[in-house]
Amino acid sequence: MTPETPIRIAVIGSGPAGFYAAGHLLKDPSGLIDVDMLERLPTPWGLVRSGVAPDHPKIKSVTRVYEKTAAHPRFRFFGNVTLGEHVSREELLTHYHAIVYATGSPLDRPLGIPGEELHGSHAATEFVGWYNGHPDHTDLEIDLLSAERAVVIGNGNVALDVARMLVLAPKELAPTDTADHALEVLAASRVSEVVIVGRRGPAQAAFTNPELLELGELSEADVVVDPAELERALAIHDADAETDITSRRNVEILRGYAEREPVGHAKRVVLRFLLSPSALLPGEGGRLGAVELVRNELVADADGRLRAKATEERETIDAGLAFRAIGYRGVPLPGVPFDERSGVIPNDGGRVLDPSSGAPLPGEYVVGWIKRGPSGVIGTNKKDAQETVDAILADLDAGKGLLQPESPDAESVEALLRSCQPDLVTYAGWSEIDRHERARGEASGRPRVKLTQIEEMLRIAASESPSEDELAEAKAP
Ligand SMILES: Cc1cc2nc3c(=O)[nH]c(=O)nc-3n(C[C@H](O)[C@H](O)[C@H](O)COP(=O)(O)OP(=O)(O)OC[C@H]3O[C@@H](n4cnc5c(N)ncnc54)[C@H](O)[C@@H]3O)c2cc1C
Ligand SMILES: NC(=O)c1ccc[n+]([C@@H]2O[C@H](COP(=O)([O-])OP(=O)(O)OC[C@H]3O[C@@H](n4cnc5c(N)ncnc54)[C@H](OP(=O)(O)O)[C@@H]3O)[C@@H](O)[C@H]2O)c1
Repeated sequence: MTPETPIRIAVIGSGPAGFYAAGHLLKDPSGLIDVDMLERLPTPWGLVRSGVAPDHPKIKSVTRVYEKTAAHPRFRFFGNVTLGEHVSREELLTHYHAIVYATGSPLDRPLGIPGEELHGSHAATEFVGWYNGHPDHTDLEIDLLSAERAVVIGNGNVALDVARMLVLAPKELAPTDTADHALEVLAASRVSEVVIVGRRGPAQAAFTNPELLELGELSEADVVVDPAELERALAIHDADAETDITSRRNVEILRGYAEREPVGHAKRVVLRFLLSPSALLPGEGGRLGAVELVRNELVADADGRLRAKATEERETIDAGLAFRAIGYRGVPLPGVPFDERSGVIPNDGGRVLDPSSGAPLPGEYVVGWIKRGPSGVIGTNKKDAQETVDAILADLDAGKGLLQPESPDAESVEALLRSCQPDLVTYAGWSEIDRHERARGEASGRPRVKLTQIEEMLRIAASESPSEDELAEAKAP
């Protein structure tokens, strides 16, 4: 490896995991590692752009760290390029010493109950993508005029995001980067009650403390918890929860909510526990009309973990909207090993494993949600990416484990990518989109007004200012 013949690594996906992996690689003291990042959208940042709730702008400022990585002279961004569609794994293997898969977990998980397909029943993945302007979900039809009550299934932070977005006041949403199409629909919403349903108890909920506390500070919605239901769920001893600081604090917060007298806000968020949806029932016009729930008890597994077990007791809640926020799911990449059951790329500390032999596949690595499953906050991906990068660097040091590509030069792979995807978006193209969105936002006191259609993004990206080299070339006689 020399400055002329560096180690060349492709990172697939530009979310937190991809960017932390790129950042760690570029910090290698040899300074002889080049990173190309391929991203299926013209825009980077993964779920930081399309998942994190619009009313959490501070969290999104983590992109400043990724911008520093992107500014590294040995980093290139190729947006609007999908692995498995525009370019194959096999093609990349002939150009890079290693590939790092960082493609996240973009799909929803179904509940597998009758009525899930009814109008008014949505996956949180699509609702979140819709309000955040993800081009895949821009055209989602979400009817917030026909329903007064929405049920959100799940007790994780995504369930809290969904509930909050449904009850935030228009004046609170207006200064955010919520997609314009969603701002309009949310402002006209008639939803006045959101019921968040957990299949287990408050001690087992996956909420984090600040997010649960935030629910109690909503300007136009009361938070409601039935003390009897709360205590019934807490009566079951859970040794794990009792030693978990987050869980204990969650319980305290929820007990506080149960003691509260509603202020009389026009909207309410109700937290219910020990209930699982058993069917989504049609109402008027064949739309969702109600959610049938079965009451659960908690029983210990062989390993002592409490799980929900259905009883005979049922109840039905009238609701015109239901959102399942029960976790995300990874998708297989063509030619790359995939564990269908867990929805991840099988790996050992980030080294991708050959499913038949169980041995590491030379030059293939994985980071983030597609490595360990759809859980963990943004920061979790930093440590996780370090583990994988340590494995890459150890393999590099040992002189084995990486590939010997046929065409390891930067130009030939760029030519390949441009031939497969003529509408490739470079970092300069993204910067143009970024500038455009921010400029539109400035006019209305918002961080940005997002472009939500690929064609529009490509048009703006194509207006990118010429690079120094291009200017010099144009000036040459
Ligand atoms: C709704 C929601 C809200 C969240 N809010 C917060 C929060 O407020 N704070 C917090 O700390 N954490 C939050 N998280 C968690 C955080 O977003 C994740 O931990 C993190 O985004 C996972 O990073 P990742 O890089 O593995 O995946 P992602 O962020 O999903 O990035 C994957 C990237 O790969 C790209 N890609 C996929 N397939 C291909 C392909 N075939 N070819 C090329 N590119 C591809 C995708 O377009 C995407 O850009 C939230 C998660 C969700 C779902
Ligand atoms: N502000 C933030 O920091 C923020 C915001 C959003 C997301 N995130 C992070 O992103 C990650 C993903 O969040 P998430 O909310 O998608 O996942 P999550 O934290 O894993 O929560 C999923 C929830 O769905 C429940 N569930 C699963 N299957 C179910 C079923 N069949 N029926 C009923 N309930 C079911 C789970 O209950 P069981 O426990 O019983 O399985 C759990 O309560 C998390 O790490 C989260 O912290 C962070």
